[in-house]
Amino acid sequence: MKLNEINQLIKCLGREVWVVTSAHAGQRNGLIATFVSPISIVPDLPRFAVALSKVHHTWTLVEASGVLAVHLLTTDQIDLAWRFGTQTGREVDKFADVASRTGMTGAPVLTEAKGWLDCRVEARLDTGDRTLYLVEVVDGDLSQVFAPLTQQQLINGATPEQMQTLRSQLAADAGRDAVAIRQWRSATK
Ligand SMILES: Cc1cc2nc3c(=O)[nH]c(=O)nc-3n(C[C@H](O)[C@H](O)[C@H](O)COP(=O)(O)O)c2cc1C
Repeated sequence: MKLNEINQLIKCLGREVWVVTSAHAGQRNGLIATFVSPISIVPDLPRFAVALSKVHHTWTLVEASGVLAVHLLTTDQIDLAWRFGTQTGREVDKFADVASRTGMTGAPVLTEAKGWLDCRVEARLDTGDRTLYLVEVVDGDLSQVFAPLTQQQLINGATPEQMQTLRSQLAADAGRDAVAIRQWRSATK
């Protein structure tokens, strides 16, 4: 298998950086995700696929509540990407000094987001390392049309320390995911 070419192809994809939030029993949290994609062509039935790692605190809240909100960021909201993507809500309150309100589903909606969707989980698939959620969009807004922040822009703007954080997080996550995917495959065969 041409793993090099396969991974180069994946790197060609311009992936938007989303903030995925959720809340349950008085707790709220959020993370950064690039595995977020529209999967419906019906204008009045918008649906998305969202893949969340089972080790993340946000996953615990989505599992318990069945709701989540997804937000696109502008290129000048890069600080929010670092805040939500490089620390865990088990240790810090990522919502401290970030304004939010409760959306229609109960998921937190970031006030400063220029584009967001409030979603309810319709179906979920365990894939070993992640849960793949099929979500129904029940509310949302776009206050202005903008080019959303991408993963590449996040990387391009990173300081050496931030790059180091991203690299070690990626290595740890990929190692753990590899074990989980292999275990899942052997259990489902
Ligand atoms: C650029 C980038 C993309 C990411 N994409 C995803 C993703 O698609 N799914 C996911 O579960 N985690 C993703 N992560 C990792 C989580 O955002 C990160 O581990 C977060 O700190 C977990 O927070 P939590 O434990 O508070 O939920 C991504 C992180 C970064 C920096």
